[in-house]
Amino acid sequence: MLSLIKPTVEYEQSYRSYIQELGDSERYPFTLDFEYDDFPALVTQLKNCSLGIGLPDGWVPHTTFWLVEHEEIVGVSSLRHHMTDRLKRLGGHIGFGVRPSAQGRGIGKELLRQTLIEARRLGIPEVLMICLKDNVASSRVILANGGTLESEYSAPEYSGLLQRYVISIDADPDQRTDA
Ligand SMILES: CC(C)(COP(=O)(O)OP(=O)(O)OC[C@H]1O[C@@H](n2cnc3c(N)ncnc32)[C@H](O)[C@@H]1OP(=O)(O)O)[C@@H](O)C(=O)NCCC(=O)NCCS
Repeated sequence: MLSLIKPTVEYEQSYRSYIQELGDSERYPFTLDFEYDDFPALVTQLKNCSLGIGLPDGWVPHTTFWLVEHEEIVGVSSLRHHMTDRLKRLGGHIGFGVRPSAQGRGIGKELLRQTLIEARRLGIPEVLMICLKDNVASSRVILANGGTLESEYSAPEYSGLLQRYVISIDADPDQRTDA
């Protein structure tokens, strides 16, 4: 069973092993870059981000979720509550990633499916997702969750082409995948 939860201190050990597995690879979503030496402080920070407390200028409230399987965090997503012009181009509503040792068995699809349910709870009618064109696994996860490719473009911040997908969340997200 895969459950999407909000961060809690009980998962400190699992979180630390998750970060260790990621090693030097780029961390998705961006909240995995937050300092975590003081784990209760990280949990408080993530809660505050969701409430819009203490955010740097130009940042929007965002909620981090952990996908948990057998008491282990196997995936992490971050849901931005609304878009700015910059986020429409570069970040989108949702960033996500799966623990390396758990990849390739449908967890990414399930992580996005459950995060879309949270987006619907927030009243977001249409979710924007941005990913690099050469990130095949990511685009497959988005397509499997009802994403439609809207455009492809380059941005000075990235060397490859970016893709922008739109997911309408009028439809019932429970019906999209059977992961
Ligand atoms: C993208 C990511 C979350 C996918 O997670 P996952 O649990 O491996 O994905 P799933 O098992 O649900 O597989 C989804 C699809 O991608 C395919 N896939 C998975 N890994 C792949 C790879 N390395 N290359 C090509 N396709 C791949 C699967 O075969 C599946 O395809 P299908 O639709 O034909 O069934 C994971 O690869 C990851 O964490 N990557 C690093 C972080 C990242 O890139 N996040 C997205 C930022 S936009």
